[in-house]
Amino acid sequence: MKYAILGSGAIGTALARRFAASAIEVSIANTAGPESLAGLVGELGSLIKPVTAVDALRADIVILAIPFDAVPDAVKAVDWGNRIVVDATNAVDFPAFTPRDLKGRLSTELVADAVLGARVVKAFNTLPAAVLGADPAVPGGRRVLFASGDEPSARATIIDLIERLGFAAVDLGGITEGGRAQQFGGGVAARQFVQLG
Ligand SMILES: NC(=O)c1ccc[n+]([C@@H]2O[C@H](COP(=O)([O-])OP(=O)(O)OC[C@H]3O[C@@H](n4cnc5c(N)ncnc54)[C@H](OP(=O)(O)O)[C@@H]3O)[C@@H](O)[C@H]2O)c1
Repeated sequence: MKYAILGSGAIGTALARRFAASAIEVSIANTAGPESLAGLVGELGSLIKPVTAVDALRADIVILAIPFDAVPDAVKAVDWGNRIVVDATNAVDFPAFTPRDLKGRLSTELVADAVLGARVVKAFNTLPAAVLGADPAVPGGRRVLFASGDEPSARATIIDLIERLGFAAVDLGGITEGGRAQQFGGGVAARQFVQLG
């Protein structure tokens, strides 16, 4: 199973840090190109593979860690062939830092429209980057991450990944309920939960 992170900013770097800590190989890409990621590899080690965005978009599991508005252009003309896209984006209005008015649609529904054919799972979007990148083992338990998606096997695959990265995974079911709770402004967004034990 080949993983890739599209985006090497706050969230992309935080995820790369957890992959490296869990000894799981992952490709990572940005707009600046693979050379710009030499420092990150120097810090995190050779399991972090800098690639072009085109190559990142060929992975079995592609995690979108780019601005919400950048998604349609970044993924256009990709043949997904049933691969998994993980939506880690949040639809936020800046500088107000309020949820974007999406005219009744969920942010992950709009991402799914942009990656037709892919199996979409929403995950990795509910914690601030600094918390996501930190050790999920905390006093008394593990930090919680959520996953929602309409395709059960894709959701199970990402729940397994979340657990392998050291977090406690909570399955929130399909996008209509789970995606709503997870998206920016939703019930579990920007809140930090710990599974005890
Ligand atoms: N920051 C948080 O705490 C946080 C928490 C939860 C969710 N999120 C969400 O996660 C996403 C990323 O946020 P962030 O804070 O990590 O943003 P960021 O620090 O601004 O980083 C954005 C990254 O996306 C890359 N990028 C933009 N367009 C691209 C494209 N077309 N192809 C490849 N890479 C592209 C940028 O590459 P270049 O720099 O090379 O242009 C940069 O590495 C957003 O949707 C945000 O709402 C953020």
